[in-house]
Amino acid sequence: MKNVDPFTDDAVETEQSRGGLSRRSILLTAGGVATLAATSEVAAQPSAERPPTASKGRVRLIVNGKQHELDLDPRRSLLDVLRETLNLSGTKKGCNQGACGACTVLLNGRRIVSCLTLAAMHDGALIETIEGLETNGELHPLQTAFVEHDGLQCGFCTPGQIMSGIGCIAEGHAGTPDEIRFWMSGNICRCGAYPGIVAAVADAAKRA
Ligand code: FES
Ligand code: FES
Repeated sequence: MKNVDPFTDDAVETEQSRGGLSRRSILLTAGGVATLAATSEVAAQPSAERPPTASKGRVRLIVNGKQHELDLDPRRSLLDVLRETLNLSGTKKGCNQGACGACTVLLNGRRIVSCLTLAAMHDGALIETIEGLETNGELHPLQTAFVEHDGLQCGFCTPGQIMSGIGCIAEGHAGTPDEIRFWMSGNICRCGAYPGIVAAVADAAKRA
């Protein structure tokens, strides 16, 4: 088909009339090819939602005096194993990156943030969590002190604060309020219940 040039009245041939490709059709074709290439690239990649599985390994953990033999993905944190595999949800997940202390437990008697360590690294370890503190229906002295000194509001940080407080006392770092504040500084309380927390740790340290 011939078109007419509006300025010269000459008949002109378009690319389409010559049986060639118009700029529009070239762009459409190029876009389609690019989309196809992108689609096949995505299809060729392993799905991001389904990472390759790691072979599981046998891990023994002694948690609150009870021995567990677990087949674990070596990439799982101790926190996730406690909460999701052993259903010990008293240990809280706050930041999941080592910044808040909500996940503090005792590992072989030492304080540790359980979100930053892999369960598989601790075969045979002794772990104490907030669930293991009560003895024959009696609260641990630091739990009682938290109640007496109003060391909590929402309570989300409290299990980590108490486990950290037990470690702080055992380490001999609870001699003065300043010392307690310093050695408990890794445990954040969003409610700001710090005066009660420090008083509770100081009180339990004296009784110990
Ligand atoms: Fe582990 Fe915050 S949840 S430090
Ligand atoms: Fe609410 Fe500490 S009591 S975060």
